[in-house]
Amino acid sequence: MHSIATLCRITSYLSRMLSEIISRVLTVHPDFSYEEVEEVCELFLSSITEKIKEETKLKRLMKYLEKEFELESQETKKVSNRAYSLELIPEYLFNGKAEIASSLVTIINLTKNIEQTELFLSAEMKINRRDKIALIGKNGAGKTTLLKMIIGKESDFDGRIEKAANLKIGYLSQDLFWQDTRNTLRAEMLMVFPEITEKMNRLMTIENDDTHWEEADVLKKYMRENDGYARYDLQIEILKYFGFTDEQIDFNVLQLSWGEQTKVQIAKFLITEVDLLILDEPTNHLDIEGIIFLEHFCK
Ligand SMILES: Nc1ncnc2c1ncn2[C@@H]1O[C@H](COP(=O)(O)OP(=O)(O)OP(=O)(O)O)[C@@H](O)[C@H]1O
Ligand SMILES: [Mg+2]
Repeated sequence: MHSIATLCRITSYLSRMLSEIISRVLTVHPDFSYEEVEEVCELFLSSITEKIKEETKLKRLMKYLEKEFELESQETKKVSNRAYSLELIPEYLFNGKAEIASSLVTIINLTKNIEQTELFLSAEMKINRRDKIALIGKNGAGKTTLLKMIIGKESDFDGRIEKAANLKIGYLSQDLFWQDTRNTLRAEMLMVFPEITEKMNRLMTIENDDTHWEEADVLKKYMRENDGYARYDLQIEILKYFGFTDEQIDFNVLQLSWGEQTKVQIAKFLITEVDLLILDEPTNHLDIEGIIFLEHFCK
């Protein structure tokens, strides 16, 4: 009731304004008739009224949701728990250890056309270590194409793209990624550190077999020296920080939603030692919680 009364006040205010506006417009444009000016002004004012109505409606709905479901406070609590959990993971596991030059990618005189469309003309760009770059452009501007050229997936262009030696790039594609796999989520994650997984599997097979004690010792030494045990566990552990349940870990990845698949990709990047992370519209399939998490991660 309160908001209807407010709207009535607004409407009567607007109709008073209408007469005022019409008389002012007529003094400047005497060539228009009163009816013509009235028609245009009414249209103009009714669009404002609609906008106000819409805003009031949305605000009311927001307030209701916040009050009824404590939406805001719960979301904030959940996210900060997750963020806190993330901080519990040993930091050194996230850091790339490879020695890498300070200049990661240099784009020189890049020209790229697709059919008749010129996407880039003599473009120059530099990506340095610790840079955080947002690539902004309208649909079809060529953002994905540029990223594909950087990762080497698209090689048909003029100019040069120089990359630091041994540069490891993590790439989150805008398209879906699992079409070519029938793996479970567990199997997919265990491929993040393939060597460690392979050695761990072998170790588990021979561990209780006395005839293989020498081989087991070598494997254990490797695991100790390469943070093998922690990394092996982390491949699966990390999924919990993204809200995956134990049951989901044995799902086929194709059974996951798009947002969940995106989260799996981000989880992989978190624990992989990449020097440059390229995310093509990573928030496309994410829910609010996922977006806030990603923002937190990118800071
Ligand atoms: N394989 C292809 N064959 C023909 N045209 C293509 C091909 N790949 C891209 N294009 C065209 O090149 C242009 C740039 O595409 P691109 O995907 O790089 O844009 P974008 O900036 O990433 O757009 P969006 O914001 O929609 O993701 C588009 O007009 C697209 O249709
Ligand atoms: Mg794109």
